[in-house]
Amino acid sequence: MATLLIRGGRVIDPAQNIDRIDDVLVRDGLVVSIGHDGGQPLGRADETIEAGGLIVAPGLVDMHVHLREPGREEDETIETGTRAALAGGFTSVACIPNTEPPIDTQAAVEFIHQKAARADTCNVFVVACVSRGREGKELAEIGRLVEAGAVAFSDDGAPVYDAELMRRALEYCRMFDKPILAHEEVLELSRGGVMNEGLVSLLLGLPGMPAAAEDVMIGRDVTLTEATGGRLHVMHVSTAGGVALIRDAKRRGVRVTAEACPHHFTLTDESLRGFDSNYKMSPPLRTAADVEAIIEGLVDGTIDCIATDHAPHAREKKMLELDRAPFGILGLETAVGLSVTRLVATGRIGWPRLIESLSTLPARILGINRGTLRPGAVADVTLIDPERSWQVDINTFRSKSVNSPFHGWTLRGRAVATIVGGRVKYRLG
Ligand code: DOR
Repeated sequence: MATLLIRGGRVIDPAQNIDRIDDVLVRDGLVVSIGHDGGQPLGRADETIEAGGLIVAPGLVDMHVHLREPGREEDETIETGTRAALAGGFTSVACIPNTEPPIDTQAAVEFIHQKAARADTCNVFVVACVSRGREGKELAEIGRLVEAGAVAFSDDGAPVYDAELMRRALEYCRMFDKPILAHEEVLELSRGGVMNEGLVSLLLGLPGMPAAAEDVMIGRDVTLTEATGGRLHVMHVSTAGGVALIRDAKRRGVRVTAEACPHHFTLTDESLRGFDSNYKMSPPLRTAADVEAIIEGLVDGTIDCIATDHAPHAREKKMLELDRAPFGILGLETAVGLSVTRLVATGRIGWPRLIESLSTLPARILGINRGTLRPGAVADVTLIDPERSWQVDINTFRSKSVNSPFHGWTLRGRAVATIVGGRVKYRLG
C-alpha cells in the first residue's frame, strides 16, 4: 500500500468547512484522513511532503479548457494542454468540443478519454456538443454522449443560436441532470467586432462588440432555463449587466450557475491601445465598471467559479492584425497567480472562497466526484505557496502556444505541487 503524507499545511476544504493547519494522509490514491488516522496522529508514510506555509487544497478543476485535439494539434494537444494544467495546479480539466471535428459522437468522446489516459497527466472530463457538428441545427445525441461519459454540453466558441434548439437542449439535458455551458452572444450585435464597443473602440477606430450582445443572450437563456427547469451555466461572464441578470435569476431560484475568467477580472479594454492581439478574446475585455461587477459577483457568489477559457492559438495565427487574429488567450498557467493577486492579496475574497471557486464548485457543477478531501475521495490535491512572488515567462509554459498577455507580469501565489490520484504529477523546481 503506497502512502503519502502531506504534513503541516493549511488544509482548506470548503466542502467540509475545513480551514486549519493539519496533515493529509493518502493511501492507494485515496484520501484516508485529515489530521488523524483512526485516532492515531499521522506518522509514517512511504513519502512525505512538508507543506508548512503552503495551502493544501482539493485539486483545482478548470471547467473551461480548449485542448484543441483532434484537429488543431499545432495549437495544443491533450498531452501539452494537460501538462500546462498540472503546472497551473489543476488536477482536472473539462475540455470544450470546438475541435475539428467537433466532439459530438460517442467515438469522439472515447478518443479524448483514450488520449488522456495515454498522456497520464491530469483528469480530462469531456464536454460534448449541444448540436450535431456544432452547426446549431439539430440536437446532438445527448443520451448516447452521456452514456459515453460526457459531463456537460456546449457549442462554445459560438452560442446555441436557435432558441427552440436551446429550449429542447435544456429539456433534454434535464433528464440527465447535465448543465449546458453557454457562450452568450447575439451575433447580429457583435459581428465584425474585435473588442468591446465603447469609448476606447471609438478612439482606436476599431469595430466593437457591445455588452448588449452578451446581456441579451443571457436574458434569453435565463428565461428558457426558468421555463424548462433545465440547468444553465453561463460561461466567461464579462459584463456588469450579465452579472445583474444572473444575480436576479438566482434570487428567483432559476437553476443557473456562472464562471468568470481571470482576464475578465484583471484587464480592461484600455489594454487594446497597443493593438496587441493577445488582448483579443470573446467575450472581449470590457470596462473598469464591468471588472468591478465581476469581482463583486465572485465575492457574493453570483459568479460561482473561476474558469480559464484556456484558448491556445499558434504564434503565427495570433501574429496577424487585430481583425484577422483569432479570439482567445492562454489561461491554465496564470490562473492561480492572477486570482491570488487580484482577489486574495487585495482582500476582496479569502482563501476558502478562492478554493471553492477553483475546485469545490466547478466539480459540483460538472457533477464529478472531485473537489473535496473527504475521506475516501480520490486524492487529487493542489499545494499552493500563497506568498510566492514570481514572474510570468511564456518561454517556460508547458502549453504548446504562447498567446498570453501576462508575459513579464509579477504575480503572487503559485501552485508548487499537483497530485493526481495520490501521485505527484508536478513539482515546481
Ligand atoms: O476567446 C475565445 N476563444 N472565446 C471563445 O469562445 C472560443 C475560444 C477559442 O476556442 O479559441
